[in-house]
Amino acid sequence: MDILITNIKELVQVEESPALKVAGSSMAVLNTIQDAWLYIGNGRILDFGKMPFQEERLHEPQKKPASASGDAASGTHLIRIDASGRMVFPSFCDSHTHLVYAGSREIEYIDKIRGLSYEEIARRGGGILNSARRLHEASEEELVEQALIRLHEIMMLGTGAVEIKSGYGLNVEDELKMLRVIKRLKALSPVMIIPTFLGAHAVPMEYVGKQEEFVDLVINEMIPQVAAGELADFIDVFCDRGFFTATDTDRILNAGMKYGLRPKIHANELDFSGGIQVGVKYNALSVDHLEYTGEDEIRCLSGTETMPTILPGAAFFLGMDYAPVRKMIDAGLPVALASDYNPGSSPSGNMQFILSMACIKYRMLPAEAIHAMTINTAYAMGLSEEVGSIARGKVANVFITCPIPAIEFMPYAYGSNKVETVILNGEIIH
Ligand code: NIG
Ligand code: FE
Repeated sequence: MDILITNIKELVQVEESPALKVAGSSMAVLNTIQDAWLYIGNGRILDFGKMPFQEERLHEPQKKPASASGDAASGTHLIRIDASGRMVFPSFCDSHTHLVYAGSREIEYIDKIRGLSYEEIARRGGGILNSARRLHEASEEELVEQALIRLHEIMMLGTGAVEIKSGYGLNVEDELKMLRVIKRLKALSPVMIIPTFLGAHAVPMEYVGKQEEFVDLVINEMIPQVAAGELADFIDVFCDRGFFTATDTDRILNAGMKYGLRPKIHANELDFSGGIQVGVKYNALSVDHLEYTGEDEIRCLSGTETMPTILPGAAFFLGMDYAPVRKMIDAGLPVALASDYNPGSSPSGNMQFILSMACIKYRMLPAEAIHAMTINTAYAMGLSEEVGSIARGKVANVFITCPIPAIEFMPYAYGSNKVETVILNGEIIH
């Protein structure tokens, strides 16, 4: 099936020479084509340009978009979409989620409203430990079923690729169970899924006071089994006050590296934890959260391959101070934005809301925020050669908006779904 979209009011984030990520002042420059067409075939973006689309391209092989199928040339399997008044965006890439979990935690939400902090709730056995208990009791089938509903929801909101972490297992069996669930989701959903192993998410009750023994378990039992089963692409640690120290994190990342697991870690959400430094030391693909980022941390990130990733949903939901994104971009760093979809600190995977938050709370320009949640989050999953922009040869993961007056309307009109048509892998999903 080929798809030809014509009369696109604006084709957003077009790249003639694709870059792996966008940093600093370049983030404010968004390439677009007004009054455009887009040709999709074999699951890929084959070509695009300014209207009018020359119909003879479909009949003259030498003018046809490169590698378009013969069917399209004869017109039999070509689907035409008139996108008048509408824009086409590359699908959002969400590089940090925990969307496999059992049940929800709205009771803790009430505790939070009454004044308890995230850490206090965790110390009382709530938080991650609460989700771990529920996950232990749930079957793989139940977990798949619940996660598929969440995946469907984010897909309809414009997400085309997502990273999913383990981390509610906290023992060998349940961590492997979570990663098997993520593997099954990969086969069941058209959304591109990247699995990350997060064995060190919280210290289980039975290891309180002997945290190092739990770190040993992660290193000696979990990592080798995860690697042997090829169940994860990346390794994560919650490196923060009250969770895992920079020393614990160093040991775990070192062990992961030996098994080819590149780090993507939780860092500096609750304090200056040293997480950013240890992440950079191990050439992490990303360090995420970063509410506590000062001059030293910005300097440490400069010139590295590590993507600073901000999770506005968690800062919003927990009522924390927002990460100094403006300082990071002004210092020339790239910035990525992800949802952190999880039951404790961000029970939403709505990337359109993240876009609005980025502009309103972090003073990002819409162009910066759009780069941050497409190409830069694709980079933070190791996928930026495949998705994250409108470029020839990339996987055709795009969405068509409802009629909107300008690109800026996307973050401006917060709270409503502006995605009308979802195309993933070159197939119309909705
Ligand atoms: O990214 N910070 C650590 N982990 C998650 C929260 C997980 C939970 O509370 O269930 C986060 O915010
Ligand atoms: Fe997280």
